[in-house]
Amino acid sequence: NKGNYEHYMQKEIHEQPESLKTTMRGRLIRGGSCKAKTVLLGGLKDHLKTIRRSRRIVFIGCGTSYNAALAARPILEELSGVPVTMEIASDLLDRQGPIYREDTAVFVSQSGETADTLLALEYALENGALCVGITNTVGSAIARHTHCGIHINAGCEIGVASTKAYTSQIVVMAMLALAIGGDTISNQARREAVIDGLFDLPNNVREVLKLDQEMKDLAKLLVAEQSLLVFGRGYNYATALEGALKVKEVALMHSEGILAGEMKHGPLALVDENLPIVVIATRDACFSKQQSVIQQLHARKGRLIVMCSKGDANAVCLGGSCRIIEVPQVEDCLQPVVNIIPLQLLAYHLTVLRGFNVDQPRNLAKSVTTQ
Ligand code: M6R
Repeated sequence: NKGNYEHYMQKEIHEQPESLKTTMRGRLIRGGSCKAKTVLLGGLKDHLKTIRRSRRIVFIGCGTSYNAALAARPILEELSGVPVTMEIASDLLDRQGPIYREDTAVFVSQSGETADTLLALEYALENGALCVGITNTVGSAIARHTHCGIHINAGCEIGVASTKAYTSQIVVMAMLALAIGGDTISNQARREAVIDGLFDLPNNVREVLKLDQEMKDLAKLLVAEQSLLVFGRGYNYATALEGALKVKEVALMHSEGILAGEMKHGPLALVDENLPIVVIATRDACFSKQQSVIQQLHARKGRLIVMCSKGDANAVCLGGSCRIIEVPQVEDCLQPVVNIIPLQLLAYHLTVLRGFNVDQPRNLAKSVTTQ
């Protein structure tokens, strides 16, 4: 049921304040004065010690689910102290890459049925790793075959383009980082800030959804373009990849997510006054580096659309020469949840304006059950 919406993708984008609440319900505890703020993940409690002791955590997934894991990687590394590596499921299988008994392998999949992810799970089980599932589908193959796991509880997602599952996956993995990290004096302030940030996230997402009309106007400007680049780094490298994936998948426009730190190693050659470029430059430890990327793109007359934190327009845009998308600032590790939403809206409106099928993009299936 699409309710008052024209498409499932549109409904699922706008549902995110609620889906995020459902994802966190009963799992985040903000006790009274003497009770610490903490996270409860029932499905993992018997395995947390093993995960903490593992030699590394390997995230495995495809498409949007891989991107969600990439977004969560920095906070997991920070709070757990365990090295975290990333694997695209098909690539792990192609290489038959090393997976060890001392590894924790985390399988991220909305459907829980993706063939590559499922085969990578079989492979990791054969190699003796502890296998954790993060899925949106109770009873799915990945949920059944992993040793333990977490349901994201985002509610049924129908649009082929994953939207609300992405943000719920990031939130679940941030909670996983808190659960693995445990309570130490040294990380207490950070933990509490992340937990508070999680509580406030649905309201911030409601706020950023108000950019809908602005993104529709931007889509009108970009509707006839051949290509769109998205530059991000740090916590928002994943946002760049995921924003570009949404645009190419539904709007059928070439789009590429670029790690801003790689700019001078190739992508800079593409920059001219015609190619539109989204630069994600919200406040975090990488902000000044992103300011300098913007300056360099500007010096090459790049056509810039800059996403920044509220009130930062003047800090990122030189002489009013770029279009600005201002978003609420949240705890840095949760910023990807907010930042992806304008790009989801942009992809949605571009698709409608270009006259393509929003919920069933050509050649794609919701659940990819063949290799
Ligand atoms: O169900 P899964 O999360 O395992 O699916 C993985 C990808 O096929 C999926 O995320 C795909 O990239 C989406 N259509 C992206 O919107």
